[in-house]
Amino acid sequence: MENVITVLGSTNIDKVVAVPRFGNSGETLHTPNHIVEAMGGKGLNQGVAVARSGVKTNMITKVGMEFDIAKNMNVANLDTSHVMRSANEETGQAYITVSAETGDNLIYIYGGANADMTAADVREHTAAITESEFVIAQLETPMETVIEAFKIARENGVKTILNPAPMPEVGGLPAELLELTDIIAPNEHETFLLTDIEVTDEHSMIENAQYYFERGIDTVIITVGSEGAFFMRKNGEKGLVPAFKTNAVDTTAAGDTFIGATSTRLNPALDNLAEAMRYGAAASSLTVSRAGAQPSIPLEAEVLAVLDANK
Ligand code: RIB
Ligand code: NA
Repeated sequence: MENVITVLGSTNIDKVVAVPRFGNSGETLHTPNHIVEAMGGKGLNQGVAVARSGVKTNMITKVGMEFDIAKNMNVANLDTSHVMRSANEETGQAYITVSAETGDNLIYIYGGANADMTAADVREHTAAITESEFVIAQLETPMETVIEAFKIARENGVKTILNPAPMPEVGGLPAELLELTDIIAPNEHETFLLTDIEVTDEHSMIENAQYYFERGIDTVIITVGSEGAFFMRKNGEKGLVPAFKTNAVDTTAAGDTFIGATSTRLNPALDNLAEAMRYGAAASSLTVSRAGAQPSIPLEAEVLAVLDANK
């Protein structure tokens, strides 16, 4: 069987500006840089990361009527036949400032068509999910769409990967969603919002992981920025996969790349996490070294070259 991964999630048009530093409320700052538009959205970024790593990707997403699918989603291995259109809303938008000091970003998103996706929409693409090894989702589409996709996946033995981003600031995540999740992959801030356990050291990461094990999740991956990513499984297996050193230009889509790329190397038995995450970390280091979301996501050959150079 051909290897297929389904990504359910957002498509955004990113409006990006690199700024000398993040401003304070009420402050006006000059920037020498133009505002550039690039494709983004956590969903599409993760889909592109999978596709560029050579795996057929079923992209379940919703855009506005004005959106040019052929032009803006022209990526090898990315199957756009599951892209839906909203009659009511335009394509999602993200306003992103990137600090030239650190490469860190600040993002404001307008959901648009992403927010107009329903569970019924997802059901129409059941076949895309059931033919897959993994389904990956984030939280830039309504909760009911992620739950529906994961239900379909669970009923059909498809493994589910949740990137809980952005994490709701209040109310946490529904117990049903956590039960339907096989792998959860938050960053240190997102997991803290949910578990209230600050990520400071290995012990605190294990405590975070236990929170998820108790709620039915098998595998926890916590990304910790330039330090890398920690993983732990319910069976006790754990490890820290260090990040590759790189010159940080723009961290936008770093986490998306890590998750998408890692999933392309992961066995459905989830028994080769360290190896798969090393590939994801190499991919992510390339994304961090380049500007923009989708334009910065690397091809498989580039990732393999990084791994080769760091043997
Ligand atoms: O994770 C990065 C993405 O978050 C950006 O591309 C932006 O669209 C927001 O969704
Ligand atoms: Na980037």
